[in-house]
Amino acid sequence: MEDFYYGEGGLRCEDVALAEIAESVGTPTYIYSHAALERAYRELDEAFSGLDHMVCFAVKANSNLAVLRALASFGAGADIVSGGELYRAMKAGFDPKKVVFAGVGKTEDELVAGMGERILLFNVESASELEHLERCAARHGKTARVSLRVNPDVDPGTHAHISTGQGESKFGIPVDEALALAERVGEYRCVELIGVHQHIGSQITKLGPYAESVEKSAGLVEELKSRGLDIKYFNIGGGLGIRYRDEEAPTPKEFVDAVRPTLEAIGASGTKIICEMGRYIAGNAGALLTRVIYRKKSGAKSFLVADAGMNDLLRPSLYDAYHEVRSVNDGAGAALSDLVGPVCESGDYLARDRALPDAAEGDLLAVMSAGAYGFSMASNYNSRPRPAEVLVKGNRWSVVREREHLADLIKGEIVPAFL
Ligand code: LLP
Repeated sequence: MEDFYYGEGGLRCEDVALAEIAESVGTPTYIYSHAALERAYRELDEAFSGLDHMVCFAVKANSNLAVLRALASFGAGADIVSGGELYRAMKAGFDPKKVVFAGVGKTEDELVAGMGERILLFNVESASELEHLERCAARHGKTARVSLRVNPDVDPGTHAHISTGQGESKFGIPVDEALALAERVGEYRCVELIGVHQHIGSQITKLGPYAESVEKSAGLVEELKSRGLDIKYFNIGGGLGIRYRDEEAPTPKEFVDAVRPTLEAIGASGTKIICEMGRYIAGNAGALLTRVIYRKKSGAKSFLVADAGMNDLLRPSLYDAYHEVRSVNDGAGAALSDLVGPVCESGDYLARDRALPDAAEGDLLAVMSAGAYGFSMASNYNSRPRPAEVLVKGNRWSVVREREHLADLIKGEIVPAFL
């Protein structure tokens, strides 16, 4: 997280002191570094150099329009999983020819919207979806380009909630079924099968399973080609892990080099490689800025009660995820405590039983590595307005999403006349 460092005014993001942002925008607030987004994107892009490739950004990791606009401007494509993400991707200016659409439950409206934008590929996850897509396409006089999302049945060695490529997972199609489906695809008139897709999970820090799954799926690409199908795209998915604490995650170069011979062999016969990373690009590009409201002791336990909670950053509560907590003014020593939010659940914590900055009431803290699956998983639980988001670029910064107002909380709610 080199774009967040201590300097003049305490913890800074690029050339801006976080305290200055908190002063003006309040807390809790997500802060994103433009330089960090760009560096991570370029690192991935360069790792694939020599191969015909496209790096997509998984919009679910961070769907803020300004973040998406920045990524589109670097040349990234977009990996989307809903009509809502398609809407955002189009508003942000992604080229539809760089948009791939995954997800096990795409509805007719979503399929039609994707075809309407002429996106590059639908990553189809079942025989039923393929049939549905064919019917929708025929009904609306459209055509669709398709990748089959294969389930390579490999354990990615990550948290169970974010493993997607094992046998019992709801995601993807087993390899043998994919072959059978590909045999039948010639019967369809409006869908064209031109790709193979896989995604085995997220926050993967071991090369072994990743490489194994790429090899397996590459085998399917070769098999389909040998059966005369023109497989123009091989999407190896996302999932590259980042360092939250002390994880030894492979670099993009190490990751690509581990499968380079396979990708080169496939590329030599004209297949383009796609990857769709979310966390690697945005995770360490963001922090959540929060203020300590109270200090509290309960028996032997010490608590820092902050103004950000599980509704703002769900990862610690949901996955017991570790996020480093830094003091913004850099003065505080460390003390064993929990950093908790104001939400009425015992599971509402940002850090537990940790040596945390010994912050005073009113002090600012930064919860690091919160650029991916932070705001995008935030909710209004406990009727808490969602935080503001700020993008920093050099010495400039801008609010890129206003803090929600109380009126936003009841937007769309109706008290019927019979009450
Ligand atoms: N492609 C597909 C089909 C996916 O399902 C995902 C993530 C990605 C790409 C991007 O994966 P990434 O590169 O970001 O690891 N909320 C969880 C992560 C859920 C990931 C879901 N799918 C978390 O906070 O850890």
